[in-house]
Amino acid sequence: MSNILILYASASGNTELMAEVMATYLENLQHKVTIKNFDFDQITAEEIKDYDAALIGIYTYDYGEIPYEVEFFYDELDEVELTGSICGVFGAGDSAYGDTFGTAVDLMYEKLEECGVHLHPVRLKVDLTPDKKDIRNCEELAKSVLLLVSGKEANVAE
Ligand SMILES: Cc1cc2nc3c(=O)[nH]c(=O)nc-3n(C[C@H](O)[C@H](O)[C@H](O)COP(=O)(O)O)c2cc1C
Repeated sequence: MSNILILYASASGNTELMAEVMATYLENLQHKVTIKNFDFDQITAEEIKDYDAALIGIYTYDYGEIPYEVEFFYDELDEVELTGSICGVFGAGDSAYGDTFGTAVDLMYEKLEECGVHLHPVRLKVDLTPDKKDIRNCEELAKSVLLLVSGKEANVAE
């Protein structure tokens, strides 16, 4: 059983739905899931270290930016060392914004990369409300992150 943290920011529910799909998928496989919302829950960058993996969901706001409620966490990442931590990043955007479609996902991904995090390479972006294919992709991302966790365990056991 893995211990997975899901953090997400969502103003209108699209990223929240993605987070919930991943949580349900993981819980159905008997993994332990802690799900936190940047708006309501206390979240620190350090706590990523307490879990086998973290899935971080973020919608894009303000023409390519991260949302306000994630700024503190994002800045805190400059101060932490997360080498060996495993993460996946996902989030909703709106393709009508053109070049800045889902760029908060990229900003978060790149910041985590700077902290030494082992990231799943897929930056999962959904255009507004997740459709069936997007939901499958959310489950795939959760599944792939679990595989990274079991790969790490296998390395430790060697
Ligand atoms: C002021 C404002 C600016 C936005 N800027 C962008 C943007 O630059 N790129 C993008 O992909 N979406 C942008 N969006 C759209 C949201 O990211 C999109 O509606 C997303 O699906 C919201 O996800 P949520 O339901 O999880 O909050 C913007 C929305 C607002 C209200």
